[in-house]
Parts: sequence; structure tokens; C-alpha cells
Amino acid sequence: MTSSQLNYLKDRCSVRNFTEREVEEDKFEEIIKSGQRAPSAGNMQPYSFIVIQGQEKRERLYELSEKQNWVKEAPLLIYICVDLRRDKRFTEYFGGEWADYEGVGRLLFPIIDASLAAQNMVTAAEMLGLGSVFVGTPSEHPREVEDLLSLPKGVYPLVLLCIGYPEEEPDKTYKWNSSTVVHYDEYEELKEKYIEDYAETIEEFTGLDIEEYMEKIQEHYDPEELKESFERMNRYFEE
Ligand SMILES: Cc1cc2nc3c(=O)[nH]c(=O)nc-3n(C[C@H](O)[C@H](O)[C@H](O)COP(=O)(O)O)c2cc1C
Repeated sequence: MTSSQLNYLKDRCSVRNFTEREVEEDKFEEIIKSGQRAPSAGNMQPYSFIVIQGQEKRERLYELSEKQNWVKEAPLLIYICVDLRRDKRFTEYFGGEWADYEGVGRLLFPIIDASLAAQNMVTAAEMLGLGSVFVGTPSEHPREVEDLLSLPKGVYPLVLLCIGYPEEEPDKTYKWNSSTVVHYDEYEELKEKYIEDYAETIEEFTGLDIEEYMEKIQEHYDPEELKESFERMNRYFEE
């Protein structure tokens, strides 16, 4: 990989404004194939990618995303789903026995696999001159997404991926300093200096002082709403 290719990863950021230009079929296929090349535990590939084509479905997803414009406007919408059903059907077709466990143990690796596939798609899109953003909000209403996309038992809505040609170059978002995320041999508690540095970075990026920023975040992530959404998701994944 040359250093300029590495920039596709190092400079990547979410795109939320798209032109009307459609994503060409060959690029779409490259994105899907790149997704499928991601690592997968036991090579089980427990995911399905549902491409949203119907306008009514798009509109419902727009509603479920709390009216995020990019869900309305991105030319290509792909709902990344965890899919335990395909492997079950394959196994049972040949008379094998499928271990039908419930709970996080059953889901942890499939969620990792589907997420890695999704991120490969993001990188592929970027390298093809496209931009993308994930939208998680509809997955906070898994029952509604299940009905909308006719998801059978064993197929779970993970995250919506919006792809298209960027209208403009977005600002690169702030990230924690690498020293705070890399630990050697044992976990190291976050130092006050890094907390303050991060607050400064946020202030520079958002133009808000940290109190205003915290207020905005807390408005956005209302604890009661979060609790309800987690309860909805837990119930869905536990059944
Ligand atoms: C699981 C997941 C869900 C997300 N949901 C949303 C969303 O609903 N709306 C949105 O605008 N961005 C969403 N994002 C994008 C993040 O906000 C974005 O990645 C983050 O702010 C960092 O910015 P960057 O991607 O430009 O580095 C989501 C990202 C992930 C991984």
C-alpha cells in the first residue's frame, strides 16, 4: 500500500451531503465484493446487505432515522443486517444440526463480521470517489425495520449505510490523541491532561465552549430516550 492509498483510511470521514449522481452498477458491485472480502469468524459470513430501492421504504427509513436528510438524499442505501439464517438453512439443508443458541455469545462474532464487512464497503466507496455515512437510528426501532424489510427470524438490522458522490469535502472530525487509545500490557487510566486537550480540540472543531457542547450532547442523548431504545433493542435481540 502506498502512502497515498493509506490516506483513504487516514483521511476518511463521514459524508452527509450528496449530489444526485447515481452510483454506477460496476462501482456498486466493487463495493459489495469488497464488503465480502472482510475477515469473518470461521468464514461464516453471517450478514446480508439489503439494498433499498422502493421510495416508500426509503421514506419510512427517513422517518425512523428521525429525518436525517442524507437518508432521503443518498443515491444508494444499504441496510447491513446480521444474518444467522442463511447458515442455518445451509446446514439443515444437508442434514446438519445447527446450534440454535440465543444471547450475546451467538451474536458477538456475527456483529463483528457484519461490521467489518460494512467498513470494507466504506473504504471501497471512498477509493471509488464516493462518500458514505452510517445511520444507526433506525436500528433503535428493530421491530419496525424488521417489518419494513421483511426480515425473518435470525436476521437483525445492524446499521444503514448511505453512499453517494460527495457534494463537498467534509471537515475532518476530531479524534482522541492516539496516546490515549493505545495502552501497553495493561489498561492505563485517562490522564487529566488528555481530557483537557480533548476538550480543547472539541472547542476548536465545534466553536462551542465545552459547557455548551456538553449541554448539546446531553440534549441529543436524553437518558430516558436512550434507556427506552436500549430496552427495545435488548428485547429484540433476546427473542
Ligand atoms: C454504528 C454507527 C451509527 C451511526 N449513526 C449515525 C447517524 O444516525 N447519523 C449520522 O449522521 N451519523 C452516524 N454515524 C456516523 C458517526 O457520527 C461518525 O462516524 C462520527 O461522528 C465520526 O465522524 P467521522 O466518521 O467523520 O470520523 C454512525 C456511525 C456508526 C459507526
